[in-house]
Amino acid sequence: MKIGVVRETAHGERRVALVPDALGKLIAAGLEVLVETGAGLGALIPDSAFADAGGRVVSAEVLYAESDLVVRVQKPSPEEAARLRSGQAVMGLLQPLLDPGLMATLAAQGVTAISLDAIPRMLSRAQSMDALSSQANVGGYKAVLQAANAFGRYFPLLTTAAGTAKPANVLVLGIGVAGLQAIGTARRLGAVVRAYDVRPETREQAQSLGAQFVTLKTQIDATGSGGYARELTGEERASQQAELNEVIGAMDIVITTAQVPGRKPPVLVTREAVAKMRPGSVIVDMAASALGGNCEASRAGETIVTDNLVTVLAPENLPASMPIGSSAFYARNLSSLLLHLVKDGALNLDPSDDIANPVVITLAGEIRSESVRKLLTPPAAVAAGA
Ligand SMILES: NC(=O)c1ccc[n+]([C@@H]2O[C@H](COP(=O)([O-])OP(=O)(O)OC[C@H]3O[C@@H](n4cnc5c(N)ncnc54)[C@H](O)[C@@H]3O)[C@@H](O)[C@H]2O)c1
Repeated sequence: MKIGVVRETAHGERRVALVPDALGKLIAAGLEVLVETGAGLGALIPDSAFADAGGRVVSAEVLYAESDLVVRVQKPSPEEAARLRSGQAVMGLLQPLLDPGLMATLAAQGVTAISLDAIPRMLSRAQSMDALSSQANVGGYKAVLQAANAFGRYFPLLTTAAGTAKPANVLVLGIGVAGLQAIGTARRLGAVVRAYDVRPETREQAQSLGAQFVTLKTQIDATGSGGYARELTGEERASQQAELNEVIGAMDIVITTAQVPGRKPPVLVTREAVAKMRPGSVIVDMAASALGGNCEASRAGETIVTDNLVTVLAPENLPASMPIGSSAFYARNLSSLLLHLVKDGALNLDPSDDIANPVVITLAGEIRSESVRKLLTPPAAVAAGA
């Protein structure tokens, strides 16, 4: 079986799906690895490193013609999707719930789509394959570094002959994988860290990393399914917001990481809250995308300074800003999944397997993911019970 590692083409993407260190185990399992010329350059990995590790460096034409499985980080562009042929498979962070139309296209072309963002998060057997976690980890770390970079003061308490610098007050909203890494990183830089989440179990996790958990008078338990948070009701949101606004106003740095799967991220930092912050404060909205973000003032992909001189960063792809580390983690996740799915030198997509079942989105011309099928069903058909 031939695995093809493509050169990513999405704007600003510098990661690569496999790194040379990951090739050994795949080759030992009987797989042949083809690498598109320049695939690793964004992550500062020369073609020669892939060749030394046993890969065959080829043109895009050869890669698409020969590969049984094309591996990538981001979903293919429409042009790249058109190059895939029937019987071929593609694996990556395909975002099937955000782009169900692409899944329909791949199914119609007879392409098997395997998505790493569908790995079950709470299954310990699948931890080594959890690319959402490994990339969120990088994101949480880089969010703090970007905040520190944009902040005009020190993070730690510093006593010098020229005076004393007070430590920065950092608030992390959303204590998932990215939030926990942000707490740890901000603490290591010497900040005083507070954190808040709607899942009560996160209190202890935040405290174990040295953050103070923000307890609101309005107690909300929004634990949802699969370890994720559910969407808050309008009433819960309003009561949470009023109290959060007061906390936010006293902070130097606010890092927001809150997502609700498949939906627009919740607004946690309103314009009113931003207006309460002191000049020189910094917000990093990690949830910002075309769908919106956690901060009403953020603009995806941009850094803005508000009228009251608060800097609002909304980086869209933080893992790509640390491509060597994030590619190494991603490659580990992808090769673990691949080795799990390969049997006797071919993909074995057994629907009774609790990892293979959720990650296979399209197979043999059909959309296997029920969530994607629902998104593609017109509302009228849903109402009629179709
Ligand atoms: N192996 C494992 O057991 C494992 C590994 C990784 C993640 N997980 C779990 O998977 C789940 C998802 O993690 P993630 O990092 O992808 O989360 P995520 O990116 O979906 O969300 C980040 C955080 O935002 C919080 N949030 C959502 N709405 C909010 C709101 N209105 N106000 C405040 N906070 C809000 C969520 O509760 C979550 O903690 C978590 O339960 C995590 O512990 C488990």
